[in-house]
Amino acid sequence: MGNNDPIGIFDSGIGGLTVARAIHKRLPAERLIYFGDTAHLPYGDKSAAAIQAYSVKITDVLISEGCKVIVIACNSASSAAYELLREYSASKAKIINVIDPMVDYVSEHFSGKKVGLIGTRQTIQSNIYLQKLQSKVSDADLISLATPLLVPMIEEGFMHDKISRDIISEYLGNKIFSTISSLILGCTHYPLIKDEIEDYYSGKVKALDSSRIVAAHLQDYLTKNHMDSKIQNGKNKFYVSDYTPSFEALTRMFFGEEIHLEKFRLWE
Ligand code: DGL
Repeated sequence: MGNNDPIGIFDSGIGGLTVARAIHKRLPAERLIYFGDTAHLPYGDKSAAAIQAYSVKITDVLISEGCKVIVIACNSASSAAYELLREYSASKAKIINVIDPMVDYVSEHFSGKKVGLIGTRQTIQSNIYLQKLQSKVSDADLISLATPLLVPMIEEGFMHDKISRDIISEYLGNKIFSTISSLILGCTHYPLIKDEIEDYYSGKVKALDSSRIVAAHLQDYLTKNHMDSKIQNGKNKFYVSDYTPSFEALTRMFFGEEIHLEKFRLWE
């Protein structure tokens, strides 16, 4: 593994581009290879076994592209497949998930406070956030709710409008969340509605977005292990397993700049 090898990032689709964007901003010299498994989107409603099978195939692609680190930019895949991928690629690439850096952040900054969590059904049903938090803070107080309508809502462009406000207040108005101090955005699509969520709480609850926390964690890892790239070395690549113009049109919203998606024939 060399310093100039790329960073692999994958997600079920384009939501993980919020993580890629934060990494690109923080570590502009790193070359990124992104893989969005748009053929199998959404992962949030798939079984853990299916997500594991998809994740292993994608990890093979990213390893064959020479990635020094692979970031699972998806909470659903992080909850279902992280341990498996870690063993699978042990000597080939370091695997980073989006859950552990958030758990570290919450244990450090919100210990003793009631914290909320929203995410896909897969992420919430896995109970992984609570298990990991309890391994750090024995009396961790986490209240979680699956919010499956938020991903299609965001992908259909319903944000900062009446529909998004209604859906958000339907979910967050649930009384289980009445005394939370902060809310973990446990899905890589949700940074796009972070400000709407904070507005819902009139700024009284802090929405915790993992994209920046994961980018900082990655920087720390690369620096400590002397694996950071010193010079920009080549163009970023963005692969999808199923290409449609509408996915490409959405990328700007998630990545913040125009990018070109290339179809990668992984499942044919
Ligand atoms: N971005 C995925 C996550 O963080 C959710 C999208 C999906 O369900 O595939 O869980």
